[in-house]
Amino acid sequence: MKKFFLTILTTILLGTIVRADEGMWIPALLQRNEAEMQAMGMKITADDIYSINHSSMKDAVVLFGGGCTGELVSDQGLLLTNHHCGYGWIQRHSTVEHDYLTDGFWAMTPEEELACPGLTAVMLKNMVDVTDRVLESITYETSDEDRAEIIKKHIKSIIEEAKKDTEYEVSVESFYIGNQYFLMYNEVFKDVRMVGAPPSNIGKFGGDTDNWVWPRHTGDFSIFRIYVGKDGKPAEYNEENVPYKPDYHFTISLKGVEKDDFTFVFGYPARTNEYLPAVAVDQEANVVYPVVVDLRTQILDIYNKYQEKDAKVRIQYASKHAGLGNGWKKWMGVIEGIRNFKGIDKKLAFEQAYNDWCMQSRSRMKYMHALRDFTPVYEEYEKYRMATTYFTEAGLSIEIIEFAANMAKLSEVTKDTPQEEIDELISELKETSAAFFKDYYQPIDEEVAVTMLTAYRAAQPEDFRPEILNEIDKIFKGDVKAYVDYLFGKTILTSEEKVNKFLDEFKPSKVKKLEKDPAVVAANSMMDFYVENVMAKSRECNAKINNLRRVYMEGQMKMIPERNLYPDANFTLRVTYGKVGGFKPRDAVEYRHFTTLDGIMQKENPDIYDYVVTDRLRELYEAKDFGCYADKDGTMHVAFIAGNHTTGGNSGSPILNAEGKLLGLNFDRTWEGTMSDLIYDPSICKNISVDIRYVLFLIDKYAGCTRLIDEMTIDE
Ligand code: ARG
Ligand code: GLU
Repeated sequence: MKKFFLTILTTILLGTIVRADEGMWIPALLQRNEAEMQAMGMKITADDIYSINHSSMKDAVVLFGGGCTGELVSDQGLLLTNHHCGYGWIQRHSTVEHDYLTDGFWAMTPEEELACPGLTAVMLKNMVDVTDRVLESITYETSDEDRAEIIKKHIKSIIEEAKKDTEYEVSVESFYIGNQYFLMYNEVFKDVRMVGAPPSNIGKFGGDTDNWVWPRHTGDFSIFRIYVGKDGKPAEYNEENVPYKPDYHFTISLKGVEKDDFTFVFGYPARTNEYLPAVAVDQEANVVYPVVVDLRTQILDIYNKYQEKDAKVRIQYASKHAGLGNGWKKWMGVIEGIRNFKGIDKKLAFEQAYNDWCMQSRSRMKYMHALRDFTPVYEEYEKYRMATTYFTEAGLSIEIIEFAANMAKLSEVTKDTPQEEIDELISELKETSAAFFKDYYQPIDEEVAVTMLTAYRAAQPEDFRPEILNEIDKIFKGDVKAYVDYLFGKTILTSEEKVNKFLDEFKPSKVKKLEKDPAVVAANSMMDFYVENVMAKSRECNAKINNLRRVYMEGQMKMIPERNLYPDANFTLRVTYGKVGGFKPRDAVEYRHFTTLDGIMQKENPDIYDYVVTDRLRELYEAKDFGCYADKDGTMHVAFIAGNHTTGGNSGSPILNAEGKLLGLNFDRTWEGTMSDLIYDPSICKNISVDIRYVLFLIDKYAGCTRLIDEMTIDE
């Protein structure tokens, strides 16, 4: 009876682990999901999505620029991704005369498409399960160190062997925290050119204000093209290269979406941690993130204060603000989501069921011990985790300290260092210095320094913090402001002139002088403390945690053999699926699943940078000149949400309908649901996509770049 009850309980609790909409599935194993996908409305087969025997949709999805996803939309290698994924390249091609970030960029002819040396598009050709070979000869008796060594050796020989008979790049990736291994064959395209981008006030409409937020109105797309050598194979940039003819490209649907329509997203999610024990989620969401959010709130408040006052400072700190702000907002969402969704309680309830399952057999004791052993390791880890957090989030947020840490590389120079090496380092530091001063505003940094050092000092105990923090007590009687005044008054690193002079005249005997600079002293003190007291212990804890997580994962997989558990995201190609629909973020509020151009006009405000609308867009709106891209309701749909389980890296991923036709590009999640990296709740976890019809409307009607429309396959 007890056993029966446990089975029932387990089944109920597992409902809280994997449920419809949740999961990022390995495309090579998608057969297992096919029936569920079809029951949800899918009209194609798993084999249409992923096959190594014939062309399939996987041949139209790439890892774009190492961090985003892109998809092919013509037989001429035309590729779509997000504006924020192409951003760096749009910026690199921008000059004062041709400000493509502000004005947009449209290659009206193939000749105008711009080379982007260093940009790659990576396409998965095949993946093969090599778990048995990687784990061969490993038993439960094998020590953790030996295990790591054996695995390394096996992976090396698998790769060497595979390389002999393939033209593709190969790697072995771990899934399910070291419980499964796949050999991946990838084709790497190296000539990817920039073809088009809307102006930033379309591609980034809403900016950081709307980031992670629904309702959303961002035209977040940019256009590239893959070129190959005349033989059709990937090649470095060459004028003679020709557009790539992919085995598959997506057909575009102009039908739009209805509530409850089946959709799926195909792309490259980077990292999730869905199988952590409660103790880890608790540390993450209730100890680490609150500190990071608090520190960043203080910094962003200072940025805002100065950015509002001065247009130049606004631009100088725009990208720093976006960088800090993206994680800041996301983690606030995680903290709230875990609390509202009672994430810790749910994890604990699952762990209870897991332990009960372990108790049923002696052979399961190792799984129970793994779960039990997390607690002391996380307790030990917390101290080091917080020391790392304060070092990176408080210490290195002081720009002068980060800059000094770079300059401190010169400390390694001795009189025996070859001149060539010194020259190389100097020229690298000159670049760092130019970039640093271009966007540096000292009053901001001084204020950040006072705030961050105060927080750092208050949070870290006297016997476990960088020496420099104790010197503030000893020499400056705890007066952080006085110390900061001294630091900024004395350092040469706030003056571009002095820094350049120092670099120009540098010789090994000057190292001593540099090491006396108060900014370098502070940077060295923080770095030394980190390296000597934190790093090794952190690594040790992490190694223990990883080993426990592997065994805990194995236990979970054994406990639920009939459930198809998905592996955490690891930057490999995945399929996720879910239905279109709005959600209820809080009491009395309900969101519809799509936004329209009307919303852009409602948000329009020429005085607020994030909400500027160009005359051209307003004219098209007023003329209702939407062509075939209008929805059947007559409006221009801009973005929509659905229940696909996505994460960072899924930016730019195609979102497809029941027939596998392109509906839009994924670009964000709603911040209420960002906890989905740790725990998924279908009621609030939604991905945000830009509607492909808005993208085509902009290419066609706004930019008049009809040659691109002509090469696409469009299903009216
Ligand atoms: N939140 C999205 C992501 O995680 C978009 C970030 C870029 N957009 C922005 N406004 N900062 O990457
Ligand atoms: N904007 C994210 C990216 O660049 C996707 C949003 C998310 O984290 O889901 O990958």
